[in-house]
Amino acid sequence: MQTIWYSRSMTQHDASTPPDGNLDPRDWPAFRAQAQQMLADMLDYIEHIRERPVWQPIPAATRQRFHATLQAQPRALASVHASVMDDILPHVVGNTHPRFMGWVHGGGTPVGMLAEMLAGGLNANVGGRDQMPLEVEAQVVRWMRELFAFPDSASGVFVTGTSMANYMGVLVALTQALGAGYRRTGLGEKGLALVAYCSAATHNSVARALAMAGLGSNALRRIPINAAQQMDVKALQRQIGIDRAAGRQPFLVIGSAGTVDVGAVDQLSAIADIAAREKIWFHVDGAYAALGMLAPDIAPLLAGIERADSLAFDFHKWGQVQYDAGFLLVRDGAHHRAAFAASADYLQRDARGLAGGDVWPCDLGPDLSRSFRALKTWMTFSVLGTEHIGASISQCCRLARVLRDAVEASPFLELLAPVALNIVCFRFVCADADRINREIVADLHEAGIAVPSTTYVNGHLAIRAAIVNHRTVATDIDILVAAVVKAGQDYTKDPV
Ligand SMILES: Cc1ncc(COP(=O)(O)O)c(C=O)c1O
Repeated sequence: MQTIWYSRSMTQHDASTPPDGNLDPRDWPAFRAQAQQMLADMLDYIEHIRERPVWQPIPAATRQRFHATLQAQPRALASVHASVMDDILPHVVGNTHPRFMGWVHGGGTPVGMLAEMLAGGLNANVGGRDQMPLEVEAQVVRWMRELFAFPDSASGVFVTGTSMANYMGVLVALTQALGAGYRRTGLGEKGLALVAYCSAATHNSVARALAMAGLGSNALRRIPINAAQQMDVKALQRQIGIDRAAGRQPFLVIGSAGTVDVGAVDQLSAIADIAAREKIWFHVDGAYAALGMLAPDIAPLLAGIERADSLAFDFHKWGQVQYDAGFLLVRDGAHHRAAFAASADYLQRDARGLAGGDVWPCDLGPDLSRSFRALKTWMTFSVLGTEHIGASISQCCRLARVLRDAVEASPFLELLAPVALNIVCFRFVCADADRINREIVADLHEAGIAVPSTTYVNGHLAIRAAIVNHRTVATDIDILVAAVVKAGQDYTKDPV
């Protein structure tokens, strides 16, 4: 397939004309033609993504082209488009590809891409003010209240991702523990006595959140996990007792709905019971698996999530919305506002005009300038419908079980952790397994065949396949398994 990406002769800004301050195209028809070519190229890219390598190493010359000095003169849009197609497009992380299974990345959809374009055209700053983009965000908040059975008093806000949403959840919990006055006075002695709890399998954004909140990551107790990698709730209860006896103040427990390494779901109802009894804040990190609520076969595994005081998750993972689209939902909107809202002369609300409205998104988080993330989420959910998105989530989990079965059936492979949802941790069985399995993963990446990532499970290096992409099918699992076995056999017959 020959794609004509650009015409090198076309320029949008004539270098011979002195700048007049206006940055719009001089030649709108030519610009429009180039824009249509860009759209066509990206639709081609997504439609034919399966034919491409998942990832390709970046040649030195390509990197070098991005070491140019700051340029004073305009360059033709067509030429810049060519750079995107030739230099950038072949070397992105690859998560749109069906055999991208590394880390936990969503695949996005063409609908989300179009929404990004529309949002870019509107260029709305959605920190606040009386504009429809806030109504779109409010619509998504209402949908999420409905999905997670949160009350009408719950508030929600789009953020970059779950790392940010976890941090904000910690800040809301902290404000409840110390009272909003702490925002003026700082943590003080009472603050330094606070302790929080999560499991040993919790994502590191939680420890970072404690550190960024000024509590220090030592204030986070990492509760041991059971064989299914869930928090040991009895150990949680014991640790809270030990901390209280030592004069510390437990204020927050974080449950995981889908741990990052193996996809375990904590016993959320049991943790909610303890949090209620102990009067401590219950935050759930549901980064990718919270949206499992859309899949009838997965939702029951998340029981208890509806009892969270705050819930962090991403639409850009299992929601398949384009990056980035993280979200924080807080059961009691008043608590949410107490952590972030701050008045300023230049942000007053008025009864009439554009400064109308009551609660603005800037009252619900640290951001004032914000992009219109709600549009791509609203469009993705509207165009695809929750049934289809839920079916893609079920499909990811079904494929994980296919991979698990293939691993268990192979004499060359070994499963390293139970498969609760969509993540499979396994390895090629051999001597010096940690080193060889690391090499196997890098080989698969460099060959562009598949992109799993690595982690450690019980001290062993694991090949970790997180199936998050709605385009992945059973053949992709077969290709992954065959490639791992072949690479492993090559290493063991011809050791390096
Ligand atoms: C369980 C869990 N929590 C938090 C995060 C961080 O989310 P984000 O990358 O959107 O900040 C991830 C990312 O994969 C995750 O799996």
